[in-house]
Amino acid sequence: MKDFTSNNLAGINKSAIRQIFDSAPKDSINLALGEILFPESQFLKSKAKEIISKYNSVYTTNAGLLESRESICNYYNNLVEPDGVCITNGAEEAIFATLFTIINPNDEILLANPTYLAYDTIIKMVKGKTKYFQLDPNNNFELNRDSFRMAITSKTKAVILCNPSNPLSKVFSNDDIKYILEIAEENEILVIIDEIYLELYLFERSYSLLSKAKNIIVISSLSKSHCMTGWRIGWAVSANTDLIDRITVAHQYISTCASFLSQKIIPFALSKKGMESVAMNRVLLRERQKCSLEFLLEHFPSLKYARSTHAPYLFLNFGFDDLYLTKKLVSEGVIVVPGSVFGANGKNYIRLNYATDKKKIGEALIKIVILSKNIE
Ligand SMILES: Cc1ncc(COP(=O)(O)O)c(C=O)c1O
Repeated sequence: MKDFTSNNLAGINKSAIRQIFDSAPKDSINLALGEILFPESQFLKSKAKEIISKYNSVYTTNAGLLESRESICNYYNNLVEPDGVCITNGAEEAIFATLFTIINPNDEILLANPTYLAYDTIIKMVKGKTKYFQLDPNNNFELNRDSFRMAITSKTKAVILCNPSNPLSKVFSNDDIKYILEIAEENEILVIIDEIYLELYLFERSYSLLSKAKNIIVISSLSKSHCMTGWRIGWAVSANTDLIDRITVAHQYISTCASFLSQKIIPFALSKKGMESVAMNRVLLRERQKCSLEFLLEHFPSLKYARSTHAPYLFLNFGFDDLYLTKKLVSEGVIVVPGSVFGANGKNYIRLNYATDKKKIGEALIKIVILSKNIE
């Protein structure tokens, strides 16, 4: 049979996380996917019902409903205009549309090692090149500034910062951010900041890095903050309205516009009442993070782990090869993600998502402890 596929997807496969998930036994405890598995806000559910009974769902303008874009501007303290907002089908589409818009063949994009794995795949799909800068595993994954500076060449087009980070659940220090932004400005590099985990702070409130700078674009969504992954609603925002205009063209040909219902829910989700459910999620996340970490440290006092400031991931090093440990855990019915899929600096780490049922986390942690002790 003729192979009908093109070279566009050569070397591109389902993500490692999905592959692990698909291969696990049916009743496994899944601590691998990037979801916050808490109930959705009842307030937003009832608003959704009202919207469905009141309106016929229609195409909207490509960039999205004005009222929804205005509420996004308001969320960012009106640092940008509605023309600087493109509403997309989740943050993932915003990332794809942005990279599709900016990358010429062989343009270089700087990524942290480790970071969210979809960036590198999408960069490959649109024929760009990834250059990594290092986050030091021996220093709580802090930025290695020399490696950042040295990664820049005349072909560098952009840097993507996942802030707070997936898989580390921590933010860059203020000094490091200042350093990155200064260098990016000097070198005319676009700074793409994925803030999808911003609202899931565990201790101190975290703030968006969106500003009036024309070389900054912020991407986010309701997926994590509001436990609304299935609504597929996100956005790209920037003071650079010309760039957002071009991204909106890409978005038009990817999906025309985001779902009408999902767009309509944005103003409610970002309202004071909508954000109350996010505050409740933070309380649940903080409790789970604390219990999980305390339990693990009790059994492994010298455990190495990223000091997370945000939810929902623990990035843990039990001192074993991460692929080996992941396979063993999957065979015991616990799905986690091997750290090396996020970049070489994640080697020997596993990523565990604790944003799920408490009983399940408890069961999974006991299995992890027993297994890791027995490998010892
Ligand atoms: C860092 C990061 N960005 C983007 C996404 C995609 O989010 P969305 O569901 O809004 O498309 C994820 C999902 O796991 C993520 O972890």
